[in-house]
Amino acid sequence: MKTEQILSDINLIHFKPADLPGELLVEPPFMPQEEIWEFVQHHFSCRELYLQAFNKESSPIYLLDSSILRKKADEFKNAFINNLPETSFYYAVKSNNHPQVANTLLESGFGLDVSSGVELELALGLNATDIIFSGPGKTDQELTLAVEHADRVIILIDSFGELERLKKITESLDREIRAGIRLNNNPHGLWRKFGILPEELSAFWRKAREASNVKLEGIQFHSSWNLDPEKQISFIKKLGSIIQTLPDNFRSEISFIDIGGGYWPPQGEWLQEEGTEAGKIRGLLGYPKTFGKRYRLAATPIDNFAEKLAEAIQKHIFSRISCRICFEPGRWICNDAMHLIFSVVDKKMDDLVITDAGTNSVGWERYEVDYFPVLNLSRPALTEKPCQIVGSLCTPHDLWGDSYWGGDIQPGDILMIPTQGAYTYSLRQNFIKPLPKVVTL
Ligand SMILES: Cc1ncc(COP(=O)(O)O)c(C=O)c1O
Repeated sequence: MKTEQILSDINLIHFKPADLPGELLVEPPFMPQEEIWEFVQHHFSCRELYLQAFNKESSPIYLLDSSILRKKADEFKNAFINNLPETSFYYAVKSNNHPQVANTLLESGFGLDVSSGVELELALGLNATDIIFSGPGKTDQELTLAVEHADRVIILIDSFGELERLKKITESLDREIRAGIRLNNNPHGLWRKFGILPEELSAFWRKAREASNVKLEGIQFHSSWNLDPEKQISFIKKLGSIIQTLPDNFRSEISFIDIGGGYWPPQGEWLQEEGTEAGKIRGLLGYPKTFGKRYRLAATPIDNFAEKLAEAIQKHIFSRISCRICFEPGRWICNDAMHLIFSVVDKKMDDLVITDAGTNSVGWERYEVDYFPVLNLSRPALTEKPCQIVGSLCTPHDLWGDSYWGGDIQPGDILMIPTQGAYTYSLRQNFIKPLPKVVTL
């Protein structure tokens, strides 16, 4: 049950914590201590490399390690290639939009998944030849740019209205373009804005036939935040039964199914108490926070994801049509490839230090809910010490963590938060403090 629902169901005014049914406070599994140690130890063992890169630039920096991107790209591709006959891989640029990240993925044989005109320009500028352009509310200008580069771009159409506008643009430019249609796989709440309902697929195909320059060849769906493949499998099953009802002509024209991104990195989701449903409720009810409680939601390894998804695709899709399967991973690829390194500017109390970087570098209050170890590269030690590590922005939400790993902490010390590559750099905000520079290993 979602927290919001729980809280709307209970009347907090008449509520005493002792009344709370025990099951609402059930915590997810604790983070295994050995896994944190292993993670911290690994990054301390690369300390010289990190410090060398840091010394070349002034603090703070994003440190990009392209060798990790290459390794991740190969692991991801191999997992699926080994299980499916025909595949294509598109890196979701939104997850980390640094050009070198996209370029490294191109070198690794990926295409690019872009979601706006700006991202499309980036992809074109990098000479990408296999680009998919997906996302709601594409403007006429963005559609025009895509049509002008129709030899390199497939548009994943988001609605009937977008099809209508694309038809006009292709006619006025007298150009054909390959296209797919995004299907909505969650018609409730905030996710209803994406794509068309699967039940509208036949009607969409008929409409697309009236747009002779729009070559409808594929179907896309995407579900976010998958620790395991269950959500994707259940939509693949539904898609299979819908494909069965499509006109034969349409079925024979489907050359690809794009099953989107949303694969969680193998280390799982690391949460602070406040990041768990139970923790949110406990906080609202006034329970004190306990230092050092970390949780980990386990993630399915990618080989396992690939096996399970391939099994579902064989059973529900390939029994009806044969086509290429496309993937749009973002987070899984770039998460581990970028780190944040910054310095302690001020020590205000034994357990309160201020850093030169602020969380405008990541663009959201990530560390209030997610747990990531803060490593003191200047005084490495495998001990975690309580200390508020905060940035220098004029907001109390500018928090990196409530502890650091190291022997001590003093002004001038160099701190690192490893594996901050996904949905941080691309969400960075030009707010109060300058943004870190990107340094490449
Ligand atoms: C359509 C689409 N594809 C792919 C992705 C990438 O998802 P992830 O980074 O979780 O793999 C997203 C993320 O929002 C998306 O909206």
